[in-house]
Amino acid sequence: MAKYIGVLTAGGDSPGLNAAIRGVGKAAMNVYGMEVIGFRDGFRGLMENRFMRLDSNTLSGILTVGGTILGTSRDKPHKMPVGSKTLDMTDVIVETYHKHHLDALVCLGGGGTQKNAYGLVKKGLNIVTLPKTIDNDVAMTDVTFGFDTALTIATEAIDRLHSTAHSHHRIIVVEVMGHNTGWLALGAGIAGGADVILIPEIPYNVEKVAEAILHRYKGGKHFSIVAVSEGAMNEEIAAKLRAAQQRESAAETKKQKQAARAELEAIEIERKASTALLTQQLEALTRLESRVTILGHVQRGGVPTAADRLLATRLGTAAAHLIQDGVFGVMVAARGDRAEPVPLEQVVGRRKVVPLDHPWVQTARDLGVSLGD
Ligand code: F6P
Repeated sequence: MAKYIGVLTAGGDSPGLNAAIRGVGKAAMNVYGMEVIGFRDGFRGLMENRFMRLDSNTLSGILTVGGTILGTSRDKPHKMPVGSKTLDMTDVIVETYHKHHLDALVCLGGGGTQKNAYGLVKKGLNIVTLPKTIDNDVAMTDVTFGFDTALTIATEAIDRLHSTAHSHHRIIVVEVMGHNTGWLALGAGIAGGADVILIPEIPYNVEKVAEAILHRYKGGKHFSIVAVSEGAMNEEIAAKLRAAQQRESAAETKKQKQAARAELEAIEIERKASTALLTQQLEALTRLESRVTILGHVQRGGVPTAADRLLATRLGTAAAHLIQDGVFGVMVAARGDRAEPVPLEQVVGRRKVVPLDHPWVQTARDLGVSLGD
């Protein structure tokens, strides 16, 4: 029977993290009488043994609070910056786990956290993970918590941009987060009525985007909203990326690998700057005044939506039940109304991208939205 459990939040913060911490903690304490501690700042806190007790006081009043009361970081157990070095601190982390006589550790995070947690499973730790990220790109779960809030914020931003784009007869390009997947831009684009939606899964052709905008203009619509995912890329960048990735996987020598990686990094820089370039190109091609809005971290902040609170809470409470049942090495996935354990090896290394035949893609096309292809 489990008695002591630890919780940590890792990776980028996300609305709903506190709801999930509260769900795990309350169920663990109320149903099973477990004692719960939370490690601060992700895996770094576990390495440095920085923690706080999670009890009815600390878990109270946090349901609606954004961010994470535990703090977070992107530090990885096996690649931890320590002083001027980057070291493998896995053994120190394992030691802290045992020092606290933990029966289980719950790791809340996105794809990177699932991978790091799996590394600790291989070291013999009892781990349960929860899928958190605004990007919705974790494999094997219907959805991640944080996504609905970010979707709502991005949609509201698009709503607001409509009136100013309309008044000035402008093109407004709005960049939405999502890392290398298009769930957020596609969802918010559809919900907010964007005229063009560009996502990483569908490389775009800038001339085709301009054509779609001019077509609207000729039809009397003198403004356009372009929702673009931060990871979206034009056809040229996409072709360069594919070629560089092939070179990287074919590389045999250290020198070839380094060259391929340097090339990939340069492409990444180009990709990051591409929303500004797209805006300039659209202005030049359409002769319509254009502006860019980058939503950025605004999408990760503030109060989680009811849907995210509900999802995070039910996945959190399910984690406590799994610990009690001795089910470890799993992520608690959302499957319809159910919360189901999925072995971490089925989650790790598999990013969930938008399938080209996904119903949202078809919906956008049915509406006459240009996807830039
Ligand atoms: O993974 C969540 C996310 O917000 C991505 O959408 C974005 O690409 C990234 O994190 C930004 O990371 P950081 O907060 O480290 O700048």
